[in-house]
Amino acid sequence: MTRFLHITDLHVSAPETDDPGRQTDTVASLDRLLDIATRLDPRPDFIVASGDLTNIGDRASYDLVAARFAALDIPVAMTLGNHDRRDGWHAAFPDHPAAPDGPVDHDMVQAGVHIIALDSSVPGKVAGALDAAQLERAQDMLARHPDLPKLIAVHHPPRIDPDEPLPWATLDADSTEKLAALLKGHNVLAILSGHIHLNRVALWNGIPLVVTMGQQSTVDLTRTDAMAVVEGTGFAICDLLPGGPRITFAPLETGRLIKEIPVERLRAFS
Ligand SMILES: [Fe+2]
Repeated sequence: MTRFLHITDLHVSAPETDDPGRQTDTVASLDRLLDIATRLDPRPDFIVASGDLTNIGDRASYDLVAARFAALDIPVAMTLGNHDRRDGWHAAFPDHPAAPDGPVDHDMVQAGVHIIALDSSVPGKVAGALDAAQLERAQDMLARHPDLPKLIAVHHPPRIDPDEPLPWATLDADSTEKLAALLKGHNVLAILSGHIHLNRVALWNGIPLVVTMGQQSTVDLTRTDAMAVVEGTGFAICDLLPGGPRITFAPLETGRLIKEIPVERLRAFS
């Protein structure tokens, strides 16, 4: 069984970074997350990080993320979000296949899965888009490894519902339509996104669209007059079972232990 983690919206600000928008201790959250990743049984074969790796796109924060990923013996596929800055990222990841500049679009094969990362960030904007060159690159990447199932990592979820009460600045309508056309006919296991800081699964043209809360904050969904940002962190454990992917959303912080039932006893229940 192939297992991977979906992490997103790390929003890391290095301790020395002057970041007035620092809301929570995202360095501690990242460390906790990576510690969990190494202790899971079975261990993940790879990790997909779908953007907003840093909060303000500064070099020091990317260096911190790069050092943490380099120390991990689990490969990480990553792309950027609206909080990222391409210049900062490229400076910290000079040997990455997406180097030396431009959108962080790339693909890799891990554990029999073809991962395609698309950089939907648009410098200076909150909403996302994929330009013509990126869509052409995506088409080329999709044509590679035709025998392997694919995962698409893209920070901004496709715009599947323009009438949502909270107007998320997601992938723009044109990019959404073109991405849908590109993906048609390919064996895409899931699209992995972030940006809205929620755990959410939708079926989009037959493809599971998995959005994971991420490591910074979440949103109070009882409020539709404003986006009320509240504490909350989580990640997703994704297992590729013979019948299809299983996505388990896990909180980063667990609550009080209520009781323990030994595994032998659990087995006896069935
Ligand atoms: Fe974010």
